[in-house]
Amino acid sequence: MNRIAITGVPGTGKTTVANLLKKNVMNLSEIYEKAADGREEDGTWIIDTEKMATIVSNESDEDDVIEGHLSHLLGISKIAIVLRCHPTELKRRLKKREYSDEKIQENLEAECLGIITNECLEEEIETWEVDTTDMTPEKTAKEIEEIMQGSKIYTIPNIDYSNCIMDLY
Ligand SMILES: Nc1ncnc2c1ncn2[C@@H]1O[C@H](COP(=O)(O)OP(=O)(O)OP(=O)(O)O)[C@@H](O)[C@H]1O
Ligand SMILES: [Mg+2]
Repeated sequence: MNRIAITGVPGTGKTTVANLLKKNVMNLSEIYEKAADGREEDGTWIIDTEKMATIVSNESDEDDVIEGHLSHLLGISKIAIVLRCHPTELKRRLKKREYSDEKIQENLEAECLGIITNECLEEEIETWEVDTTDMTPEKTAKEIEEIMQGSKIYTIPNIDYSNCIMDLY
């Protein structure tokens, strides 16, 4: 099945949803240390995606799901599922974390601009979007299961939160 990537901006729900799937899941944050060339001043790991891809290939099976906001950039998935979330709700989710205002802002901008979806399309992988805004994690997981089983009709990514960008300033 070739390691379906579940990706999205932090807070969109990748880990929560992946844990509900009837699948083996590899959580990329668990291998950051092994895949990194040190850390930035603010503690963020400097990830070497090639190194990360090698580790993932060695430590997971074809049928496993790879979960994390870099999963679509490893060159080992043919399908990416991008979790999306309306910026107002995403802000609420991120405020519950110990993130700086700057980091929250960065993530909200990324979501408004649909950066992850665009990266997937640039990678030329089959890209699905699932909007988690008004969904429960269980319903989101069910939708992902349907995508993985091939029982959902494909639609080109079309979630657009760009009109929310001015609300961030
Ligand atoms: N439909 C939904 N799907 C997933 N999570 C949801 C949904 N609705 C609300 N949530 C909540 O949003 C939060 C998502 O957090 P989670 O850690 O899963 O995000 P993440 O995408 O893995 O972030 P990170 O990239 O930082 O690891 C959780 O608190 C979860 O309960
Ligand atoms: Mg996570």
